[in-house]
Amino acid sequence: MRFLEEARALLGAAHVLTPDAEDLSAYTEDWRRRYQGRPLAVLRPADTAQVSAVVALCAQHGVAIVPQGGNSGMCAGATPDGSGKQVVLLLSRLNRVRAVDALNNTMTVEAGCVLAKVQELAAEHERFFPLSIGSEGSCQIGGNIATNAGGIQVLRYGNMRDQVLGLEVVLPDGQVLNLLKGLRKDNTGYDLKHLFIGAEGTLGIITAAVLKLYPAPRARTLALVAVESPQRALELLAVLRSHLADRVTAFEIMGDAVVAMVQKHIPGTPALFDKRPPWYVLAQVSDSSGAEALQTAFEEALGQALESGVAQDVIITSSVAQANELWAMRDNASAAQQRDGHNIKHDMAVPVSSVPAFIDEVLPQLEIAYPGVRPVVFGHLGDGNLHFNVARPADWVGDWLDQSDAVNAIVLDAVARYNGSFSAEHGLGMLKKHELPLYKTPLELDLMRRIKAALDPQGLMNPGKVLPD
Ligand code: FAD
Ligand code: MLT
Ligand code: ZN
Repeated sequence: MRFLEEARALLGAAHVLTPDAEDLSAYTEDWRRRYQGRPLAVLRPADTAQVSAVVALCAQHGVAIVPQGGNSGMCAGATPDGSGKQVVLLLSRLNRVRAVDALNNTMTVEAGCVLAKVQELAAEHERFFPLSIGSEGSCQIGGNIATNAGGIQVLRYGNMRDQVLGLEVVLPDGQVLNLLKGLRKDNTGYDLKHLFIGAEGTLGIITAAVLKLYPAPRARTLALVAVESPQRALELLAVLRSHLADRVTAFEIMGDAVVAMVQKHIPGTPALFDKRPPWYVLAQVSDSSGAEALQTAFEEALGQALESGVAQDVIITSSVAQANELWAMRDNASAAQQRDGHNIKHDMAVPVSSVPAFIDEVLPQLEIAYPGVRPVVFGHLGDGNLHFNVARPADWVGDWLDQSDAVNAIVLDAVARYNGSFSAEHGLGMLKKHELPLYKTPLELDLMRRIKAALDPQGLMNPGKVLPD
């Protein structure tokens, strides 16, 4: 085929992988194993010039492109369809660090840099890159930007959008849009970079970014707190903030069903409190000055929470190893669920203050509709963002995922009543695009379609994702 020959000429034959010659399953199935595709080829460009050339070639031949980073996305945004006509464009070879400007507190990295490497590099320069998610060992900066990833430190530092000062993007016709400025102020018309952040590869391919760095925290402590309800958890957040203000850098909640699932499926997960509480909070505090003052303020705040009945029990970690063990338990929530079998996942947000009322309203509705249903609720309580997952009743017969529409209607209609979001950090991909017309206004949807048509008139950038057909 002419297209493949020309792609080989541009990238080198070793970087054009085809299904007849290679096992491409690592690139054609989503992380949750819910979607499998069949691509025409998997392309591995080495740099921005090659991305530009191969995207122009796709435009010329009318070939659709599915950009792929670490393939850790939760909504099948990086999976090709089954037509055998789309190409998967891997960004992993674009993994250079172009610059570190310690005085400007920025680094310029290519899209294929793995998040954990970027965190390490920042630390080598006595700086801090705050995005932190369970997949950080495999996800890539381009994927993080394309999904506007969140994670555990949004409470203090914001999500990925807040970490991006500049971008380089290859547009659907192959032109390179260079917005690689390390500016904290620039009010010169529409801020174009924001169009591509969170667009899940539907408007262009991110090839590099200027990222914001922060002073490195010199002290960090983590506590696991047992609480009787999400309302108590929010009261705990208020107590911590009144003592520690912005030094509270993570505030995560887990229902006991999640903790039990991780303990069952992930070997080495520790036993925690003598008496199992219904809810657990992981609260982290960090400071760029003295460890002692931080520890004292944290202990005082937690002491007050215990005394007033806001907290039932507390484990304050005494070593980095112990803190890592508790974070591993939290990070393994998704893997444990995957091993436990299909559950209907939600990544919703409501205003932080509404979380307890939301949970109290929805849990009984689910139980009425599906007696014995097992809610698996955890997430970023400090941001009002819960992974409100619903596992089948133990005696359920049949495919639980067949109930997705009915379960979604219960959960997501309630989200809408609380003026919330039905996808707070994972995006839409193929999995959630159908919810868009249900929960966005026609005007919002129309504006999105007009932006898509203006930037990608041929509809070749990740078709079938984000926007419903
Ligand atoms: P991919 O999965 O490869 O792609 C995701 C989307 O971005 C696709 O639509 C793809 O087409 C597009 N894309 C990828 N690279 C580019 C590019 N260079 N240019 C344009 N488009 C591109 N997410 C959170 O937000 N918070 C969490 O706490 C969190 N925890 C996770 C924990 C685990 C264990 C796992 C497996 C996932 C978790 N995720 C979380 C989801 C996922 O890791 C993030 O969405 C991540 O940002 C995806 O990055 P990736 O490189 O793997 O992207
Ligand atoms: C998390 O916070 O662990 C993730 O976003 C992953 C998930 O929802 O499974
Ligand atoms: Zn999350």
